[in-house]
Amino acid sequence: MSRFEIKELTASDWESYKQVRLASLKDSPDSFGSTYEREKAFSEADWKARLRPLSGVNISFPIVAESQGNIVGLASGVIWEEDPAVAHVYQMWVLPEARGKGIATALLKSITAWAEFRGCELMKLVVTTTNEPAVNLYRSFGFYPSDRLEPLRESSALETQPMAKELGKAV
Ligand SMILES: CC(C)(COP(=O)(O)OP(=O)(O)OC[C@H]1O[C@@H](n2cnc3c(N)ncnc32)[C@H](O)[C@@H]1OP(=O)(O)O)[C@@H](O)C(=O)NCCC(=O)NCCS
Repeated sequence: MSRFEIKELTASDWESYKQVRLASLKDSPDSFGSTYEREKAFSEADWKARLRPLSGVNISFPIVAESQGNIVGLASGVIWEEDPAVAHVYQMWVLPEARGKGIATALLKSITAWAEFRGCELMKLVVTTTNEPAVNLYRSFGFYPSDRLEPLRESSALETQPMAKELGKAV
């Protein structure tokens, strides 16, 4: 694959965001707490609201990796109003044919730089315990298990591991 670049999404990108997010939920249903069925019912206003700060959100940083004009990866950083010292990583997904080339690592680096610039002290995320590529990705990036396991979603047999990484420290 040719080189890729990381770009921040704005509300006007909602259609391409909708496309990549729904593709991710369809491709990797066990990787996310939300579902394709839930989000395919979202309205234009819902998608736009995802891309700009909502009530309760201090600031968000939705980003994609683009290669030759095509989106090949997605992730989002969110700082909630209730805890401005913590940046959460959500929606991490790389197109299957683009995996293993450092795209997720680049997305994480970009969110880390954004979180540090915003003065955060900690990054947090949750990962399904059986998702070996993602668990390895986050461990190699310096995340460590930080809390008790939780169900992926109500009545799911799958469990998620909360992980955290302190900022301002080398991996
Ligand atoms: C997990 C995922 C985002 C990784 O994306 P990627 O761009 O392929 O990851 P990278 O190329 O940056 O890999 C970085 C590290 O992740 C780990 N990793 C990635 N793919 C892996 C695999 N198939 N098996 C084991 N470890 C893997 C490795 O530690 C790797 O470092 P290395 O290349 O030095 O071995 C991608 O597989 C994906 O989109 N999966 C489906 C959605 C998902 O699970 N998202 C996470 C939600 S929490």
